[in-house]
Amino acid sequence: MTPSHIAFIMDGNGRWAERRHLPRKYGHKMGTKTLERVVDLAAKYGVKTVTFYAFSTENWSRPQAEIDYLFTIFRIFLDEIDKYKDKDVRIRFIGNLTKLPDDIVAACDKMVAETMSNDALTVVIALNYGSWEEIASAVNTLIESGKKDVDKQDIVDALYTREIPFPDLVVRTGGEVRLSNFLLLQSAYSELIFTDILWPDFDEKAFCSVLEEYSSRERKYGGLK
Ligand code: FPP
Repeated sequence: MTPSHIAFIMDGNGRWAERRHLPRKYGHKMGTKTLERVVDLAAKYGVKTVTFYAFSTENWSRPQAEIDYLFTIFRIFLDEIDKYKDKDVRIRFIGNLTKLPDDIVAACDKMVAETMSNDALTVVIALNYGSWEEIASAVNTLIESGKKDVDKQDIVDALYTREIPFPDLVVRTGGEVRLSNFLLLQSAYSELIFTDILWPDFDEKAFCSVLEEYSSRERKYGGLK
């Protein structure tokens, strides 16, 4: 079975660059190329949704120069709407966008609006995303709505991921074995794959081996099979 939704933790950009005695920003630049490659691979192999963890609520503690460079990369990505329109790709963002620079917020809104009716593939970009912040935001939404009794569906509908199916598979590159505050509720029953491959090196062979590993897993959702 091909997973319908894969979520990626794109780790290892910095180390990829450092191993080549290059500034870390080259790792992020190459990481952007990998993101584009994975979008094409997802479409090629019939995956319907891909989510990428591009900037976490914890990434603000990185050096300002690195944050500024990441924002430069995001601006370039946001400027390339036509590329995604041509591929019939719908773009969504999750995270607390209000904390980002105004021009980025406006460009995100524009990209979402202009790709809304595309349906070959949905690409979800997590920007200033963290599960704890998302849950706090959902709780505040529910309080504001005046609800006195909340069920699972109310929570699902108040998360940034509303209308996006939960990931079948979460893949983390770069060798670390943790979820780092990413889609903690949504991945409750996701399969998890951790690979040592650094994100800029994640190619078609790596993508296919992840699909193969997923198809060998038996999903039980807490029951017996
Ligand atoms: C983690 O690697 C990666 C990030 C914090 C940034 C990911 C962002 C991109 C790949 C840019 C592409 C995004 C878009 C939306 C175009 P790291 O720097 O922590 O690597 P390290 O663990 O080797 O230091």
